[in-house]
Amino acid sequence: MEKLQQIYEGKAKKVYATEDPNLVIVSYKDDATAFDGLKKGTISGKGAINNQMSNFLMRKLEGAGVPTHYVEELNERETVVKKVSIVPLEVIIRNISAGSFSKRYGVEEGIPFDEPTIEFSYKNDDLHDPLINSYHAVALHLATWEEIRQIKEYAFQVNQFLKAELLACGVLLVDFKLEFGRLADGTIVLADEISPDTCRFWDAKTREKLDKDRFRRDLGNVEDAYQEMRRRLMGQ
Ligand code: TMP
Ligand code: ASP
Repeated sequence: MEKLQQIYEGKAKKVYATEDPNLVIVSYKDDATAFDGLKKGTISGKGAINNQMSNFLMRKLEGAGVPTHYVEELNERETVVKKVSIVPLEVIIRNISAGSFSKRYGVEEGIPFDEPTIEFSYKNDDLHDPLINSYHAVALHLATWEEIRQIKEYAFQVNQFLKAELLACGVLLVDFKLEFGRLADGTIVLADEISPDTCRFWDAKTREKLDKDRFRRDLGNVEDAYQEMRRRLMGQ
């Protein structure tokens, strides 16, 4: 399958058309941004790691009953995925307090929750991705009630699966962000990526951060953390 014209460029990926109107090719970049694009940098090797790790997890999730956009890994950085229209909601699941949750509610990071939480942000750069509730999402026609119900069900399924998979590698799944898309027939599938860019991973013993927080917070050893996560999950 070959790349035709570029149809989109985001902060971390480019998307290309293919001869098949139902398929596109995503190409992962080493570019990293944080804080609404205010902080910019490069994480060498990140594109390949995120591509491989996300594909590895999506293949497993398909097996566990969560439909995804994944079709075929082409090379280190490029993957064929089903063309979707993205539901403009960032779906965030949390198992342990951290990040904006800790900031918003004035609680320290690292408190495990009795049950996972879910929240949505409205994917809109001009508005800086504000927190949104499901009533407002439906009022704005971002998704239907049935789509939101399905998205929540899949998101908690992804959490159950990922949490166990990571714990077996000695990693705590603190929180993560998912995006869903609609196929041409309206079917909801998991899209975007699952990677150290979009999840918080802590070493289960030392609580060392093994994700993009190392870049966001200038903690150093950013590349090492991404490589360590690929090694633990995929053994390479
Ligand atoms: P938060 O604590 O900053 O709200 O982030 C929650 C999770 O979502 C964390 O694992 C990082 C991920 N995330 C993204 O993937 N993209 C984003 O733009 C933001 C703000 C967070
Ligand atoms: N990538 C996002 C941005 O640049 C934020 C983040 O992941 O922290 O806004």
